[in-house]
Amino acid sequence: MVNPEIEKRKTFAIISHPDAGKTTLTEKFLLFGGAINTAGAVKRNKANQSNTSDFMEIERQRGISVATSVMGFEYKDKRINILDTPGHKDFAEDTYRTLSAVDSVILVVDCVKGVEEQTEKLMSVCRMRNTPVIIFVNKMDREGKEPFDLLDEIEQKLNISLCPLSWPIGQGHTFKGVYSIYNNHLNLFNSDKTKVTDSVVAVSDLNDEALLDYLKESEVQGLKDDTELVDGVYGKLDKSLYTDGLLAPVFFGSAINNFGIKEILDTFIEIAPSPRLREAEERDVLVEEKNFSGFVFKIHANLDPKHRDRIAFLRICSGKFERNKFYYHTRQNKKLKFSNPMDFMANEKSIVEEAWPGDVVGLYDSGNFKIGDTLTEGEKLQFKGIPSFSPAIFKEVENMDPMRTKQLEKGIEQLTDEGVAQLFVMQPGNRKVIGAVGELQFEVISFRLEHEYGAKCRFRTLTYSRSRWVTSTDNKKLEEFVKRKQQHIGVDKEGHPVYLADNDFMIDMTKRDYPDIEFHTTSEFK
Ligand code: G4P
Repeated sequence: MVNPEIEKRKTFAIISHPDAGKTTLTEKFLLFGGAINTAGAVKRNKANQSNTSDFMEIERQRGISVATSVMGFEYKDKRINILDTPGHKDFAEDTYRTLSAVDSVILVVDCVKGVEEQTEKLMSVCRMRNTPVIIFVNKMDREGKEPFDLLDEIEQKLNISLCPLSWPIGQGHTFKGVYSIYNNHLNLFNSDKTKVTDSVVAVSDLNDEALLDYLKESEVQGLKDDTELVDGVYGKLDKSLYTDGLLAPVFFGSAINNFGIKEILDTFIEIAPSPRLREAEERDVLVEEKNFSGFVFKIHANLDPKHRDRIAFLRICSGKFERNKFYYHTRQNKKLKFSNPMDFMANEKSIVEEAWPGDVVGLYDSGNFKIGDTLTEGEKLQFKGIPSFSPAIFKEVENMDPMRTKQLEKGIEQLTDEGVAQLFVMQPGNRKVIGAVGELQFEVISFRLEHEYGAKCRFRTLTYSRSRWVTSTDNKKLEEFVKRKQQHIGVDKEGHPVYLADNDFMIDMTKRDYPDIEFHTTSEFK
């Protein structure tokens, strides 16, 4: 028997290329779930693209109201947990890590712009873990791409089979509404941006005369032709293909106008998977297991220098988490108990007594945790699925204030534990190199080192733009490689050797020269 507490949980993330409508859709879900009363309550986590102080200000506010990192609410007897991801592309790695803590995702695509760069990257991360994906085509109130063309584009660029479960009637200024293919009802377009309105017309099928009360004959005919074609091309939904991450149901709508939201939310809670088994290095961990286990996927710093504590976000994988109980920190080999674990219901944080698989609890942390750490009831486990990815920019840290060397070292250590960027220690000379996805991360590191640790540093840009984690079945060969390529070898925080290269060409050459060495694009390999 599956525990009903686990079965009712739906933990997911809404992801998109910036500006496609992720924040708006999140907010509308919260409105439907009754977690907020008016639109505009969810803080936008978008930074002005080039302005660091703006960004830091937003981060500061977010740091205070950490509740926005996880938004839990009850909807139709289900407990929904939406995990928030940063909007800015320079923080993509934070998003990738958050995706390790969800059971499914909703991917938002702008119908005018189609599949964008970040959409493709996010999808490839979902594919790595076979995460089930539902696609929401947003902004149907705008003159965008024709739906069938858009589906072709999504299928090709995202390399996934699709199954439309709703279909738009018109688009842009002729947008009339969406027809739910999944449960045969018609939802008419009634733009209301601030509250939830129900304008659903139940029809038996597309031959129902009642449709003509709302749509012109030509519109009904157009809808019949379209849905026939949809049925012929895409067929019926195969739920197991969806839960295996091989097929994505598609919905159309307009988030800002509250439109198509109910269709996607209602279907989502019906078909989206509840928490499932998780892979650990040692074994697979089942959700129904009696013993508690969980892992840290995000650490949120308190940006107020007077309160240095951080909040570690723990995703529960099995058993029941309880307040004030000792748990085993498997990396540090010590026991910890938490007297004020936080829950994030209705966009507010409160102390939680117990939590179940699928839930995320916030733990006050004074420096015990780093990303990927596992807690259990005593078993030595290490959950998989939180790899580091190859950064794009590498810079060497140069200390600007020798009197504050210790503070600088501590700051770099802690910030990279939090996952702000990656740290590589170059073999000759113990030089510290920071690897990041974007420039903004370096600015954030400088700012925080100065404001939180009182340390000053300069970053010297290096020519590298790729990193590959290197392994070999032959230890001697690996040692030899590391020795020969000394100048290009950094050691990551786990102690693994990493080969840093200027470009793909250089990597290909090295691969050819060292056939016994394996080169990995992420830090997780087996
Ligand atoms: P993001 O989190 O994915 O970055 O996107 P966000 O929800 O912030 O939406 C980006 C912009 O798109 C916002 O406009 C938002 O109002 C608009 N938008 C969202 N859904 C729809 C939709 O269904 N139709 C149309 N036409 N626009 C939509 P903005 O001008 O950047 O911000 P704001 O001034 O409206 O707050």
